[in-house]
Amino acid sequence: DKGAYPFYMLKEVDEQPAVLRRLLQNYQGDDQQFAFEADMMKTLLASDRVYIVACGTSYNAGWIGRSLFEKLAKIPTEVHLASEFAYDLPLLSEKPFFVFLTQSGETADSRQALVKVNELNYPSLTITNVKGSTLSREASFTLLLHAGPEIAVASTKAYTAQITLMAMLADALRAAKGFEASFDMERELSLVASIMESILAEKAEIKAWIDANLMETRNAFYIGRTLDYYVSMEAALKLKEISYIQTEAFAAGELKHGTIALIEEGTPVIALVSEETVGAHTRGNVEEVKARGANAIVISMQDVAREGDTFVIPKVETALSPLVMVVVTQLLAYYTALGRGLDVDKPRNLAKSVTVE
Ligand code: M6R
Repeated sequence: DKGAYPFYMLKEVDEQPAVLRRLLQNYQGDDQQFAFEADMMKTLLASDRVYIVACGTSYNAGWIGRSLFEKLAKIPTEVHLASEFAYDLPLLSEKPFFVFLTQSGETADSRQALVKVNELNYPSLTITNVKGSTLSREASFTLLLHAGPEIAVASTKAYTAQITLMAMLADALRAAKGFEASFDMERELSLVASIMESILAEKAEIKAWIDANLMETRNAFYIGRTLDYYVSMEAALKLKEISYIQTEAFAAGELKHGTIALIEEGTPVIALVSEETVGAHTRGNVEEVKARGANAIVISMQDVAREGDTFVIPKVETALSPLVMVVVTQLLAYYTALGRGLDVDKPRNLAKSVTVE
């Protein structure tokens, strides 16, 4: 039931802090460690490479997972589109471990890839929101997202739940491998939940800005580097699927290699800047598009914010920045579709669960 909400999407966006806290609770172990099934941890630790396989928003979450597994647990990780993977298997390592990310657990492309993995007898984990779903039954291990039903076609809370769960898993793997923690994962995730709440409290401001900037445009771009680029991929998918504005995400450095030719007077270019080192370069790219007439919008994190940024988000640990940056972009997509009078929960031509290949 969506209660007083006009659309499920907004309800689900609002639920994210609670989902995050529920995940922290459900995977809480003793000694301030996250608890995961011993057999799964053993298999994962014995593997030499993780292959994340998924579609759509889950695929976009996979890129954040890759960064977490590699940076925190030092496990080489690759991300693959399920629809490509099943038909063009990458050269696999000696001891691969497969992670299937799927909100529904029923996506046909992902299932097809899992069938392949099972034929080859490799271990797999399905991270899903639906207990007893096909991909959960057919994988060696399952981890549940505990996000509650996601009804809107546009996936939101499943994305942040997947990233949260992978962050906890990466932290558990790090601890099991005996590496020092560079930050307290539990504390930082709790902080993320509070900051999500503070962003959600700014809806009116975000809506007003959208009404003034995104109502007329036919296309838009998201740019960022590293984690901000991966969030851009998700932000672009969200905006295009519910508002029908053609939106593309680009690694900011790639603009000058072709895409900048598309910039016209007034083209919205939304830059995500959550980190100093790469952020400074992204800002350079913002200047380049501005010089060509773009309507540049910067969403930044407090410690790297500059005068004139459109939205500034309180600081969280860099590795977890996608969890908060994405919330602004979800609201941006929501209010754009709403302002255009569209059916936010049921965009044209799309189904919630894609059960055909
Ligand atoms: O249930 P899944 O996570 O496997 O679904 C994957 C995609 O179909 C899904 O994320 C889709 O891209 C959403 N409409 C995105 O909002």
